[in-house]
Amino acid sequence: MHRLHYARAVKSEYEIACLAQANVIALQGHEAAKKAFMNGKSEFETQLYYLAAVQQDQTQMPYRNIIGFGGHSAVLHYQHYDYNAQNMTQPQSFLIDAGAQCHGYAADITRCHSRGSELYQHLINAMTKAQLSMCAMVKPGVNFADLHHQMHHLVLDLLQQFNLVQGSRDELEASRISSAFFPHGLGHLLGLQVHDIGGWQHDELGNTQKPPAHYPFLRCTKALEKNMVVTIEPGLYVIDSLLQRWRDNGFAHLLNNTTIDQLRPLGGVRIEDNIVVADQPINLTQ
Ligand code: GLY
Ligand code: MN
Ligand code: MN
Repeated sequence: MHRLHYARAVKSEYEIACLAQANVIALQGHEAAKKAFMNGKSEFETQLYYLAAVQQDQTQMPYRNIIGFGGHSAVLHYQHYDYNAQNMTQPQSFLIDAGAQCHGYAADITRCHSRGSELYQHLINAMTKAQLSMCAMVKPGVNFADLHHQMHHLVLDLLQQFNLVQGSRDELEASRISSAFFPHGLGHLLGLQVHDIGGWQHDELGNTQKPPAHYPFLRCTKALEKNMVVTIEPGLYVIDSLLQRWRDNGFAHLLNNTTIDQLRPLGGVRIEDNIVVADQPINLTQ
């Protein structure tokens, strides 16, 4: 089984075609969900519009769709679908992490949308730029854990740009405060399973490389090879329980509570694309 798990990280032409088609289908759902959100539908109704557009029911989805408005967008695996209609007089944020399948192969796509919030739209734009710069680095020979580490530098850039943190760059880096806002991994292998198997496996014998202790949730530590398919999905969220951990550890002075309070009702952002590893990486989601 170790040999099989190791080999299946590199996809065949057929598998990449299936993953590409799963993306085409899922993007139709994302378009319909965005429209539903903008028109004031509830989370529950937005989910129904998504499913109707992809013509797949929830049991056919590679994972349970995440459809979060406002503060719900900061709940990482938010699994509820709120029935309440939106208050259309208030600005609103929307994070949707939703897929589709083609012959069993998964798409795993996250998008964010703003209705009337300039702050949230700016954050989406800035994160999208950072995420795309990371997608362009998904090349053979690159270690995924190194990409994850580089993403933390970009997240810290964003935290400074949006005045969510303060203090010297050296102190901010030493405190690892970017992990309070970006607590999950940069991405994972994608295939028949949404979190495809073998992300830590380093050889055919089943030896593994676990992530560093300070990045415990990183699902892939591999050196990338041509035709592996991975997700790139950085995020930035206001998660009070995590911010409290940094406050408790003596880093309260690094947090700008005024801007954090402004972002809290909008939750957070994540942008997620599916990328084929190559010298010119192929983005299946664009
Ligand atoms: N939708 C699950 C994930 O992004 O990993
Ligand atoms: Mn996802
Ligand atoms: Mn993912």
